[in-house]
Amino acid sequence: MKNVISLTIFLMVISILYVGLVYGQNGKKVHEAKGELTKPEKMASKLWNKMQTDDYQNTWKMWPGRTAFYKGTPPHGALLTTYLNSKAYNAIEKKEKELPYRSIIIKENYMPDKKLGAITVMKRVKGFNPDAGDWFWVKFAPDGKPMTMEKDGMTMSLAGKVPGCIGCHTASTGGIKYIMTQ
Ligand code: HEC
Repeated sequence: MKNVISLTIFLMVISILYVGLVYGQNGKKVHEAKGELTKPEKMASKLWNKMQTDDYQNTWKMWPGRTAFYKGTPPHGALLTTYLNSKAYNAIEKKEKELPYRSIIIKENYMPDKKLGAITVMKRVKGFNPDAGDWFWVKFAPDGKPMTMEKDGMTMSLAGKVPGCIGCHTASTGGIKYIMTQ
C-alpha cells in the first residue's frame, strides 16, 4: 500500500514537471513569434498611450514664454512646440536646478513647412538611469513608434538610455540639469 502511494505521488510530480516544461517552452515560442518588446520599447509604448489619453496638446501647458512653432536649433526640428506636464512646468517656473521625478517634456519637431517630423520626449523615472539624471529618452515617429538609427551595422532603437540624447543634453548650460531650452 505504502509503495502504491509513493508511486502515485512520484507520477504526479513527474507529470506536473512535464506539464510545466511543455507550457514553458510553448510560452517562449509564443514570445519569440510575437517578437518580444524590449523594456524601453514597452516603456515608450506606455508613455505614448499616456500622452494620447492625457490629450497633452489640449490639456498641458507649453514651455513658459513659448508659443507653438518657435524657431528650433539643430539637431531638432526647424520649428518646435514644447509641452510640459504640471510637475515639469511648476519646477521650470520656480527656476529649480533639477526637474522632479515624473516630469515629462514633449517636444514636437516640425519641418519648415510645419509638417510634423518627430516627437522627442524626456521623462524622469526614478532609478531608470542614475548615471545620467534618471531620464528616459525617446524619439517617436508621428505614428507613435520609436524611431531607429543605424550604428556600426546595427539598428538601435531611439528609446531608453539613448547615448546620443544623453551625450548632448549632458552639456546643458541653462541652469537646469539635462535641459537645453533656455
Ligand atoms: C546635438 C545635441 C542634441 C542631441 C543629440 C539631442 N538634443 Fe534634444 N535638445 C537639444 C537642444 C539644443 C535643445 C533645445 C531646443 C531648442 O530650443 O532649439 C533640445 C531640446 C530637447 C527637448 C526639450 C527639453 C530640453 O532639454 O530643452 C527634448 C524633450 C529633447 N531635446 C529630447 C531629445 C531626445 C529624446 C534626443 C535623442 C533622441 C535628443 N534630444 C538629442 C540638443 C540635442
